[in-house]
Amino acid sequence: MPQRRLFVTTALPYANGKFHIGHIMEYIQADIWVRYQRMRGHEVNFVCADDAHGAPIMIAAEKAGKTPQQFVADIAAGRKPYLDGFHIAFDNWHSTDGAENHELAGQVYLDLKKAGLIETRTIEQFFDPEKNMFLPDRFIKGECPKCGAKDQYGDNCESCGAVYSPTELKAPYSALSGARPVLKNSEHFFFRLSDPRCIEFLKQWTTSGAVQPEVLNKISEWIAPGEDGKPKMGDWDISRDAPYFGIEIPDAPGKYFYVWLDAPIGYLASLKNYFGKSGRDYDAFMADPAVEQYHFIGKDIITFHTLFWPAMLHFSGRKVPNAVYVHGFLTVNNGEKMSKSRGTGLDPLKYLSLGMNPEWLRYYLAAKLNAKNEDVDFNADDFMLRVNSDLVGKYINIASRAAGFLTKRFGGQLTHAFDPQGAALLQALRDAGACIAEHYDSREYGKASREIMALADQVNAYVDQNKPWELAKDEANNVQLHQVCSVLINAFAILSRYLAPVLPSLAQDVEKLTGLQLGRWDDGQDVTSITPYQHLMQRVTPEQLAALFEPPATPEPEKVLPGGEEIAPVITIDDFAKIDLRIARIVECEPVEGSTKLLRLSLDVGEGRLRNVFSGIASMYKPEDLRGKLTVMVANLAPRKMKFGISEGMVLAASHADEKSQPGIHVLEPWPGAQPGMRIH
Ligand code: 2FM
Ligand code: ZN
Repeated sequence: MPQRRLFVTTALPYANGKFHIGHIMEYIQADIWVRYQRMRGHEVNFVCADDAHGAPIMIAAEKAGKTPQQFVADIAAGRKPYLDGFHIAFDNWHSTDGAENHELAGQVYLDLKKAGLIETRTIEQFFDPEKNMFLPDRFIKGECPKCGAKDQYGDNCESCGAVYSPTELKAPYSALSGARPVLKNSEHFFFRLSDPRCIEFLKQWTTSGAVQPEVLNKISEWIAPGEDGKPKMGDWDISRDAPYFGIEIPDAPGKYFYVWLDAPIGYLASLKNYFGKSGRDYDAFMADPAVEQYHFIGKDIITFHTLFWPAMLHFSGRKVPNAVYVHGFLTVNNGEKMSKSRGTGLDPLKYLSLGMNPEWLRYYLAAKLNAKNEDVDFNADDFMLRVNSDLVGKYINIASRAAGFLTKRFGGQLTHAFDPQGAALLQALRDAGACIAEHYDSREYGKASREIMALADQVNAYVDQNKPWELAKDEANNVQLHQVCSVLINAFAILSRYLAPVLPSLAQDVEKLTGLQLGRWDDGQDVTSITPYQHLMQRVTPEQLAALFEPPATPEPEKVLPGGEEIAPVITIDDFAKIDLRIARIVECEPVEGSTKLLRLSLDVGEGRLRNVFSGIASMYKPEDLRGKLTVMVANLAPRKMKFGISEGMVLAASHADEKSQPGIHVLEPWPGAQPGMRIH
């Protein structure tokens, strides 16, 4: 096959957090493919970058007291241990805030404008008057217009699932400043994706084999005619107003590209940066019709990559992707999906710090991955089984069973005069190469590893039939022992070559053992001698897995506090912010008939109505002690139906954990100056 020229990327991670195991899975998937293509002699340019722009990063940087540039640089500085640790060999790592991206994004935009696909429209948006900025949807909160649930985001309600636009929220407020947002007009730039030319192009591109069938299924509603005869695809708002951390739109001061416009252009920018460093000609490469472009991504960002991105490229006169390869999410121990924001479950750096072999994970993921976008579950028991039984038990053991005899009895020299059974076995192993290659090429790594393990089974059957340990007992069997062990080491070398895309570091050790070069897929040389065998791979232990999933230790309390209970586990400021504490005036207070514990309070928290709250404080206070006083209440507690009526909140009071031996409950009272309705921060 002539040498192919490949340009391969993984999704650019947002530069506001560390990698989690979901990122690592995607990189391993792509890295295996890239290594396989290189073994076939193809040219591969494999790049990634930090996705630096956007409002969330700008706001996170502000919170951290850094410039966005510094914030992003600090995140980028932490990438290397993950990439090196899991043998992920990108050729280049760049940033979407790099000069190349600023330049390329401007050019792509101007080309789209020339094609008549950019238009401006005035839209009405929420504006935070305190922060002086337009608010992104996720920074506007309020009451759900459908069910009235409080503190819902600007685009959908987590309580009833309703979807709406931020302007429909009741009592909206800015999650940045707490201020009530105002509606303001702004001119926005749109990419006219609903233009018939775009729809036509996308119909053709998406059905050209560039996307997996299940992906096509998912996106076709955007481009196929709906009930009204029109596709659902609307125009895409590609601009944001200052202040925004992003790329300024040419000839439009104060207007920036929406992060999702410049992010995929970052693929090109990273490639350009890579070529720049090595003095290669980026323009010539991209102009070569033979160059193939592939993007590995997760299934949460399909629309951007299979509709917006190819259209951007095509109508700006650029090469379109040959394919977008979409994978599913990674779940851990049948648990929740590894979302971008909550990377819980399996910490990649902890994995490495426990001395766990990165190639165990590479092998395990390979064994579970296929070309579909199905989710993959990391299951601790399954992981141990596959690593210990398959990888070590079936494969590594082939070498460890044969190498010792060769070194001790034959000076490390191998014979080429194989027994007929051994020769046939090696031939069968070689013949399987084409099928395994096909599996790698089509990202069916699970099939590839099953095929390889089936071959290992055949080799182990040969071992069991020929029993080298029995042969070794009698020197009269030397010729046969030599043959069998030589066959085994050759078989091991062939399997190692097949596994090299998945286990690159092990392949290097096997090169040292056998003297072969395993970097080429079709190199069919026999092993002539070996160096003394050193153990190639340990087994994973239950202790390692237990430590991996052990939650981080919480410090022991040093002494029992006067309140009789330990300080509760640490929460974040966001957790605390969920509790809406308000100053309340106790307008009325009365005993509750039939209860010796409760008092009924009528509380004013400035809402223009009174709240009815039952509180277990009758042992300490008479109603007249409390009337007219100020106190603190939890104002957003779900109403609770009690025997005596509904309680619409809770008054804060202090007590000892052991109420029996140390009775007493003490209502909180604010210092002078606090007014009913003020929030406690
Ligand atoms: O979803 C994400 O994590 C994005 N940062 C991916 C961007 S991929 C490409 F478009 F840059
Ligand atoms: Zn709702």
